[in-house]
Amino acid sequence: MEKLIVKGGTRLEGTIPISGSKNAVLPIAVAAAILGDGVSVLHNVPDLTDVNTLRAVLEGLGATTKLKNSTLYIEPINHLEYEAPYDLVRKMRASIYVLGPLVAKLGKAKVSFPGGCAIGPRPIDLHIRGLEHLGAEVTVQRGYIYAQAERLTGTEMYLMGQYGPSVGATANIMMAATLAEGTTVIRGAAREPHVSDLAHFLNAMGADIEGIGTSVLTIHGVKHLHGTEHTVISDDIEAGTFMVAGAITKGDVYVQGITEQQLPAVSEKLVEAGVELDWDANGVRVTTPREIRGIDITTAPFPGFPTDMQAQIMGLLCLAAGTSVISENVHTDRFIHAAELNRMGADIMLDGSKAVINGVRNLSGAPVMASDLRAGAVLVAAGMAAAGETVVSRVYHIDRGYESIEQKLNDIGANITRVND
Ligand code: EPZ
Repeated sequence: MEKLIVKGGTRLEGTIPISGSKNAVLPIAVAAAILGDGVSVLHNVPDLTDVNTLRAVLEGLGATTKLKNSTLYIEPINHLEYEAPYDLVRKMRASIYVLGPLVAKLGKAKVSFPGGCAIGPRPIDLHIRGLEHLGAEVTVQRGYIYAQAERLTGTEMYLMGQYGPSVGATANIMMAATLAEGTTVIRGAAREPHVSDLAHFLNAMGADIEGIGTSVLTIHGVKHLHGTEHTVISDDIEAGTFMVAGAITKGDVYVQGITEQQLPAVSEKLVEAGVELDWDANGVRVTTPREIRGIDITTAPFPGFPTDMQAQIMGLLCLAAGTSVISENVHTDRFIHAAELNRMGADIMLDGSKAVINGVRNLSGAPVMASDLRAGAVLVAAGMAAAGETVVSRVYHIDRGYESIEQKLNDIGANITRVND
């Protein structure tokens, strides 16, 4: 099992490049492989374990893929296989994205029910409900979802759950609706940048989607989608993670390849906490001239503060002069990293969906464990700011969503070594 040994007391200084968005490239690759009638070429694709896991799922369905120098070539499926097996789906929940496209393209799908993960049960009732609205017959038996439909039929639907819009269900149903008969209106649609990037990609394939970036998506069904070429947007969460890393080490970091529009709430909250952000057309310079202040944060669907940045900002607020309160409203169990930060000397108390963080003067290095990719990232960031050495285990979580994380950070002053024990 690999671990990262993070030497503390380092100050990050320099330019750090942002890779393509994991949460954009996953649904886009599915659309290219299942909905398209020709080869698609995707640029700015990050080399992540999640991307390679999805490639295995798509190749199991008959597609051909090749990833070289951040370019992913995808030759669509051969229309024979319609089953996504458990041993691949269990590795990555985003495999559920093949469900809607398979039913739209082949008229049937058999997909393993995705497992939950450390941050909550992760239900898929909205995915299933959306497909039923489109006329599919969906049953769940022995851990598999079976869906079929002669041809999907466009309709109006409201796709919001008790926690607000669903990124995954919006992506799944939008993809399926592109080949449905007639027009589909999705109300309560997710508006994350990666959902909009998927919509732009689908339109480049010949789909007809209106309302991109709003909570009402209108999809006029078409008969065919062709292959196309697309550059994936940069990863807003990777960028936000490195902005926090710059701030927590009181460094001077230029995060390159991101726009403020991709993470408006993160930008606003970092400034409120006392971080200085100088934005330009290509990125942002992060400095921390004064003490970090305690602030209150509530996670929410875009354009609210992203749940995927909750762990990272908690790490920064551990060192604030004052108290902060974080309310996690999107996932039901996403504070596991708090206990690990407390092992490093933080003072965090949990109360249901709220975390109260009393700032401390400094953190001390300790052996800690990553429980999901964002929790892993915050432990690396906290380790860089802590006194002494931090050993982060279960690094495979981090590699799911961060391309060469130690390489990028060492290039601007970190001292992180990957070991295999
Ligand atoms: C996507 O997950 C992201 N993953 C998650 O990022 C992210 O945390 C999440 O969106 C919210 O932004 C990918 O894009 C691959 P949801 P997804 O459906 O689609 C509930 C990371 O760190 N819900 O928007 O699974 C659900 O339980 C990962 O990169 C239902 O109730 O999230 C949650 O409470 C972690 N029924 C809320 O909605 C459903 O059918 C939002 O979930 C679906 C979801």
